[in-house]
Amino acid sequence: MKGIVLIGFMGAGKTTIGRLLAERLELAHVDFDDLIVESIGMTIQDYFDRYGEAAFREKETEILTHSLTLDQVISTGGGIILKEENRQLLQQFPKVIYLKTEPEELLDRLKKDTVNIRPLVVSKSPAEIIDIYRPRMPLYEESATVVIDTTRKSPAEIVTEIIQKAGE
Ligand code: S3P
Repeated sequence: MKGIVLIGFMGAGKTTIGRLLAERLELAHVDFDDLIVESIGMTIQDYFDRYGEAAFREKETEILTHSLTLDQVISTGGGIILKEENRQLLQQFPKVIYLKTEPEELLDRLKKDTVNIRPLVVSKSPAEIIDIYRPRMPLYEESATVVIDTTRKSPAEIVTEIIQKAGE
């Protein structure tokens, strides 16, 4: 099983699961947010402040395009499904795994995450965050080849389920 893309909302565990999955499959792991930070030379928050969300989305498209041919586990940013162009690019990957998580758990994880500063949620109320999540849900669903419900599951359980459901 090669070339796997993980998609899902902020707080879904894309980075943690991606790292573990790559280890289990002995593949390289890349995290889009890390690649973008490397490429822009500043934090995502600073980039949003200076150049806006649209410029950030362009960077995501660039990186997605470059990732197409590589056999690796890719943890995307939560907004990768927003652009039609990106959704079309995602269709070219053999395995796109949607880590689906109940909104309450997402909110809880986002609240507890003091390491990642996410410009879209940083000063938002839970209701406002849900308002961002809701219209994205069908886009994650339509972009995925496999949907994994991660609610109340451990990272190891989730990785095993991905391998079972997406394995050849
Ligand atoms: C975003 C998600 C973030 C990051 C940026 C925008 C989004 O990545 O790309 O803050 O629009 O959902 P994570 O999903 O890894 O937090």
